[in-house]
Amino acid sequence: MAIASIDIVCENSKTTLDQWDRKHSWHPFTQMKEYAALPQLHVERGEGCWVWDTEGNRYLDANASIWTNAHGHNDPEINAALKVQIDKIAHSTYLGLSHPLGAALGKKLADMVPGVLSRAIFSDNGSNAVEIALKLSFQYWQLREKPEKRLVVGMQDGYHGDTFGAMAAGDSGGFHGRFDPWLFESRVFSSPACDEVNGQEFSADTEKSLSELKILLETEGTCIAALILEPSIQGPAGMRLQPKGFLKEVEALCRRFEVHLILDEVFVGCGRTGSMLACDTESIEPDFLCLAKGLTAGYLPLAATLTSESVYQAFLGSFESGRGFFHGHTFTGNPLAACVALKSIEKLERLIDSKRLKETIAYFGERFEEAFRGHPNVDEMRQRGLAAAIDLCPGEGREAWPIDERVGMQVCVEARKQGLLLRPLMDSILIVPPLVISSEEIDFLFENLKTALSAVLKKISN
Ligand SMILES: Cc1ncc(COP(=O)(O)O)c(C=O)c1O
Repeated sequence: MAIASIDIVCENSKTTLDQWDRKHSWHPFTQMKEYAALPQLHVERGEGCWVWDTEGNRYLDANASIWTNAHGHNDPEINAALKVQIDKIAHSTYLGLSHPLGAALGKKLADMVPGVLSRAIFSDNGSNAVEIALKLSFQYWQLREKPEKRLVVGMQDGYHGDTFGAMAAGDSGGFHGRFDPWLFESRVFSSPACDEVNGQEFSADTEKSLSELKILLETEGTCIAALILEPSIQGPAGMRLQPKGFLKEVEALCRRFEVHLILDEVFVGCGRTGSMLACDTESIEPDFLCLAKGLTAGYLPLAATLTSESVYQAFLGSFESGRGFFHGHTFTGNPLAACVALKSIEKLERLIDSKRLKETIAYFGERFEEAFRGHPNVDEMRQRGLAAAIDLCPGEGREAWPIDERVGMQVCVEARKQGLLLRPLMDSILIVPPLVISSEEIDFLFENLKTALSAVLKKISN
């Protein structure tokens, strides 16, 4: 049996890699029994919107490497910046020390985000960015002599990550229900379910959602520390959208009842909806803003939680006062990741200013609509920015597919044969390409997704 050393790993056959993976890996959000029965795919390299597996097959990355990739894989400018930094230093702690890239990124983010958010706490993933926002809010109210403000309000189907605080603030029973006994108490208000494709909004239940929130705040506002939600698009819930104007109302209610507003822009931030931040579009000024995923364009793990000078000031005092914020991670503010973030933001600003992103989104929306509007097996479709979802169904008058039929998963596995990488959410297909996807690649995406869908529907109807 070959040894898994980095020098020889590329020379090993696919069969050996399959064996190592089957025997020693435990993939996240994956039923490993199902995985073991599927053909394995080892992504070896990438270029632009494409990745190649160990056998030389090419795939369009329509999952943007789990919603992170902005400028394509193997981007020459980001690579060059990274190479310069790696020759200086790969890591140096941010606990009580600084480095030039961390300082520069803090400044860049403060300039980039809305309103009074001038302080950044770095971490290394979206869940941690959320944990930090929650803990800052809890501690802030203690420091301001309002320790009764402890509750968190989240929105229906909210997802903020898999750590305990993020699970408690979220509403992803399907993922996290097992851990309920260990989660702190929280409240949930209904989401203003809204459909949109190609800039056109359909049905939304804004009034119900806002009146539920208002009642919650009227009855328990004095005990509520923070409200957290994913603005504009709830990606992990299957690209659930909010109607325009909704966020502004939520912001006003938070202000009225003295409740912190935490915006989780882990998914929508950094260009996904067409602007740098989703809160920009509606001029919202949150108390805390969480960024991760696209912040480093799919290169390295980095997250940031932004807050205001006035929150920051509340934490100042002598060491003995215990007002300091005791939360940090070993790789907090890693210099390589900070360097990538700076370069990526610079590129993103160019992409947005050039209007190319806007044009790409318009084309993506048109082609998405053409591909699936009226399809007998598409129950609902949603799209905003470069994020879209179709909910599959057996067709009118037909009984729903049994869960274990795994139709969404079958479509994604079939799509690989057409050179397309996608990830399902039950029987929904989520489509999240890199921000630099071209028109030809968008055509390729929808044509091949349709082909894969037809093949699976044919197979399961036999
Ligand atoms: C909106 C949102 N918040 C938080 C997270 C958690 O981020 P991470 O997986 O980096 O912990 C995710 C991940 O998908 C997300 O989409």
